Amino acid sequence: MSAPKTEYKKIVCAYSGGLDTSVMIPWLKEHYGAEIITYTGDLGQGEDLSAIRQKAIDTGASEAVVDDLRERFINEFLWPSVKASAIYEGMYPLHTALGRPLLSQRLVEVAIDYGADAIAHGCTAKGNDQVRFEVTAKALAPQMGIIAPLREWELHTREDEVDYAIARNIPIPITKEKPYSIDQNIWGCAIECGEMEELWAEPPSDAWMMTKDPSHVTLETREIILNFEKGVPVGVDGKMMDCIDLLTHLNELAGEYGVGRIDMVENRVVGLKSREVYEAPAATLIHMAHTELERITLDRETFNYKRHLSQDFANIIYDGTWFGPLRDCLQAFVDHSQQTVSGEVRIRLSAGLARITGRRSPFSLYDEGLATYSDGDTFDRSAAKGFIDLFALSYQTVAQARRKQQGE
Ligand code: ARG
Repeated sequence: MSAPKTEYKKIVCAYSGGLDTSVMIPWLKEHYGAEIITYTGDLGQGEDLSAIRQKAIDTGASEAVVDDLRERFINEFLWPSVKASAIYEGMYPLHTALGRPLLSQRLVEVAIDYGADAIAHGCTAKGNDQVRFEVTAKALAPQMGIIAPLREWELHTREDEVDYAIARNIPIPITKEKPYSIDQNIWGCAIECGEMEELWAEPPSDAWMMTKDPSHVTLETREIILNFEKGVPVGVDGKMMDCIDLLTHLNELAGEYGVGRIDMVENRVVGLKSREVYEAPAATLIHMAHTELERITLDRETFNYKRHLSQDFANIIYDGTWFGPLRDCLQAFVDHSQQTVSGEVRIRLSAGLARITGRRSPFSLYDEGLATYSDGDTFDRSAAKGFIDLFALSYQTVAQARRKQQGE
């Protein structure tokens, strides 16, 4: 075993209760001779947090801090991402990526509160999450030590970790042959497993956590209405809802219809491509409804400009640079653009499908008088010819010049 590079007295360790972070507790104690405090944030992963706290203590932590971060996660991270229409590479609603800056921020805050000199996380060397945790920590507390045991230790397989845990008599998660690595919160779920590393292979049917197989949906189709205020969902079917209830309700409802399954190959920050399987039932409905509302409430230039900005915003979230200055600047633009994005969108749910059937807003820019082909048309048809003459003028000029140059 290699000697530690730096001495740390007290380390605050991000703890999920899973195998990696359970093994981290004795490993950090042995290799750094430090006192370990664990930190667990509830982002709506649906785990029993008091059991997790007890497990951390039983595994050797001197203190186990647990926070309910759900409201903060939704209001300070998810809603800004909705307003920005932030979807990575056109498919991934970024639930894991959005959770990391908040967890890392709290990790650093707890470390400062407890007088710790380092934080530790259980991310692997190949993933994006290590980048997100560490960039956040460096941006918020540049003096803080950072340890990533999975990049250092010689426990290369799950079996190595289990043996290590058994030898130290620490409780290991009781898993009944569950080959999937799952990261879940209230915005969605990421599922990884060996089988899916083969790009041609369909994800196994038991891999899905939040959505029903669309081919097994027997429910009648139904419509729901999503209500928005200033770019943020506030209610369903006209009933205002608390943000946690709203997301829980939409996850269940869309999940029952098998809506929100995503299977994609994405480009990781660390340079490799990876196959990712996600479920995001509520996020799917909310993003589609939000964009629909922008279609009627934003003018053409702002709507299209914002589509470019959305990609930049998504990349910022994906790359873990949430606490950098560019996100602040883009956020100001986004917030300003959402002043009129209020109203409602009607969606029809059927097996595996969500389809928009109606939209309306007190700030709608849609003018039926201008759009109609029936009676009541207010569009000045005589203005169209002059408009096209000038709009096409430069193309016409090019064509004429080319002809002349070619001596015709
Ligand atoms: N590829 C996704 C991302 O980078 C999901 C990562 C899932 N993380 C995990 N620890 N299982 O955002």
